[in-house]
Amino acid sequence: MEYIICKNYEEVSLLGAAILAKQINKNPKSILGLATGSTPVGMYKKLVEMHKKSGLDFSEVKTFNLDEYYPIKKSNDQSYDYFMRDNLFSHINIKKENIHLPNGESSDPDKECAAYEKMIADAGGVDIQVLGIGVNGHVGFNEPENELKLATHLTGLTKNTIEVNSRFFKKIEDVPTKALTMGMGTINKAKSILLLITGKSKAPVVKKLFSGVVTTAVPASFLHLHPDVTVLLDEAAAELL
Ligand code: PGA
Repeated sequence: MEYIICKNYEEVSLLGAAILAKQINKNPKSILGLATGSTPVGMYKKLVEMHKKSGLDFSEVKTFNLDEYYPIKKSNDQSYDYFMRDNLFSHINIKKENIHLPNGESSDPDKECAAYEKMIADAGGVDIQVLGIGVNGHVGFNEPENELKLATHLTGLTKNTIEVNSRFFKKIEDVPTKALTMGMGTINKAKSILLLITGKSKAPVVKKLFSGVVTTAVPASFLHLHPDVTVLLDEAAAELL
């Protein structure tokens, strides 16, 4: 696991976008694994700018998102489907059929998860998987538990995650209590991983992440077992290192 400490959020966003743009320019048919949350928003803004100003071409790019609430309608402005359209897909030339997210509207979540896992494999696997990290160490919705699931699955959200995510909802009762998420195995199958961590609130979990152990109490620690992970941190997130 390599890490780069950037000055601030802006620099993390710029560098993250540059890494993804380099991948797309190297292989216009790249398969990107994407994440939601506050952290990647700035990076998506930069990618939109690169598309508009310098013609960064997404016409052959395929994307697979990490997770989605369950159940949730795609039209709900808190769905990750909505978030991705709003922050990235509506502003670039990606083809609709090349965009994939776990379907929060599915009536059969287990079947949906198995199909999602197969779709990623059939596409040839993810080239770069973008990730954020929760203050509790989760990646996607792989929450701290006694054991972690390998494949894409339906999961319950921890109380902590519901509380943290309630900032986006009118009231805490509106936060879905379940989600569909890639598993740690799905994530670690990506050819490379780009983990973005910004802000002071993440400093304690960054300290745990770099404490030299792998533990299900910090699901992100399993990324240490992957041979090609780049972590971009800002100075605030790195302050306890
Ligand atoms: P955040 O979420 O980017 O909004 O901090 C990250 C996560 O929970 O994985």
